[in-house]
Amino acid sequence: MESKFLQHTLQEILQLVDVGIHVVDATGVTVLYNPAAAKIEGLDPAQVMGRHILDVYPSLDPESSTLLQVSRTLQPLLQKQQSFTNFKGNRITTVNSTRPIVVDGRLIGAVEVSQDITNVRELSERLVDLQARMFDRSPKKSTTPTGRYTFADLIGQNHDFVELKRQALRAAQTSSTILVCGETGTGKELLVQSIHNASPRASQPFVAQNCAAMPESLLESILFGTVRGSFTGAENRPGLFEVADGGTLFLDEIDSMPTSLQAKLLRVLQEQYVRRVGDNRERQVDVRIIAATNSDPWLAVQRGELREDLYYRISVVQLTIPPLRQRRDDLPLLTQHFIAKNNQRLNKRVMGLSDAVQQLFQEYSWPGNVRELEHVIEGALNIGDGDLISVELIPQRIRQGQSTPHVQPSGPVYRLGRSLRETLAQVENDLINQALEETGGNISQAAALLGLPRQTLQYRLRRR
Ligand SMILES: Nc1ncnc2c1ncn2[C@@H]1O[C@H](COP(=O)(O)OP(=O)(O)OP(=O)(O)O)[C@@H](O)[C@H]1O
Ligand SMILES: [Mg+2]
Repeated sequence: MESKFLQHTLQEILQLVDVGIHVVDATGVTVLYNPAAAKIEGLDPAQVMGRHILDVYPSLDPESSTLLQVSRTLQPLLQKQQSFTNFKGNRITTVNSTRPIVVDGRLIGAVEVSQDITNVRELSERLVDLQARMFDRSPKKSTTPTGRYTFADLIGQNHDFVELKRQALRAAQTSSTILVCGETGTGKELLVQSIHNASPRASQPFVAQNCAAMPESLLESILFGTVRGSFTGAENRPGLFEVADGGTLFLDEIDSMPTSLQAKLLRVLQEQYVRRVGDNRERQVDVRIIAATNSDPWLAVQRGELREDLYYRISVVQLTIPPLRQRRDDLPLLTQHFIAKNNQRLNKRVMGLSDAVQQLFQEYSWPGNVRELEHVIEGALNIGDGDLISVELIPQRIRQGQSTPHVQPSGPVYRLGRSLRETLAQVENDLINQALEETGGNISQAAALLGLPRQTLQYRLRRR
């Protein structure tokens, strides 16, 4: 009964997930092959099931087939990028993980999970090409567009905020690395662009890259560039370090960068040269790095998301933007600024806030910070018609004085179409992060909160 249940559940899961799953037995004959794998490879499951790998894929041999390789070596291959032309003639790029299945010390098969990243890769490469063209240094091109914002756009007279701007302006004169910290919507991007535009590099490129949600191998080739190679399917192209040469490279959400890539980044920062993926030539670059994170960087270090050595290297100057709830004295100024901006855009003549709304704004916790304030005002001007913004024009959550639960910017998103394992891993991660935040990063206390032995939590943190 139980095995029947498991068998049906497994079948349903294999149908639902959008990652390709391919399982062979110890002799190399396919025993599981899901529709997503068939789609990626351009095959019909019937052509694959029950047949030996080498019969189905004539171009493979025992060495080049990853499933056969791990069956022989018993060493897993994790997160490997591969490019190939599939059976329908489409050029495909995947990220694969392959593991041997060993039970009671005996090999019984191997499993491979593949994620199709063809679209992501094409889009990212197009983006690098566009940036390269924007900053083309050929003599024909004149101005190079750089970040749009300057310090004049950073509104605020709060004591800590003014001090922060002063420090940032001073740091703009140097080429030291800067780490900008602050919750979502506090103005990190604004500050980083302002620093670049106030720096001696202002006429040189400003290039931004978000490090979150990108497979390691892809982010690596975007940052460092690639040389033509048959296995990776790569072309000769410069990475963002080369595109940003002479200017500033902004690495947003640095704590989401896979830690092994963080190690490579550290090496580039220390040595000031980059090596394109697959190349043996080193290229000297002169790039100022500014990194940003939404979380407390020290907590990120303790969670194992940010390498400690990289943290010290990038936080030569650390600038922390306070959340809006800690500088409520700036609310009137920011409010007036966004009213004026939207009056012009929407052709309105709003003067300010009603007393009741002023009061509510002072009491609200603004989890989305300045961005949330800006949107609330834009929304009110869209639907209102009086001189003052009245209570009816502002969202319910502010009227009730409640913040939406303190969501992380990327938020926990649980949806179908993602593997159950991935989703469960995310839930686990979210809960661990929450516990660490509650306990200020104390692992023993966090473990107690999660009902786990300390060693188990430590093991899970190390595994991430
Ligand atoms: N001090 C400020 N003065 C004027 N506008 C601001 C200020 N701070 C933030 N904003 C506005 O808030 C919005 C969000 O700013 P920004 O994109 O820089 O935030 P962020 O910290 O990078 O957020 P996230 O972590 O979500 O990427 C922008 O539209 C920006 O114009
Ligand atoms: Mg940002």
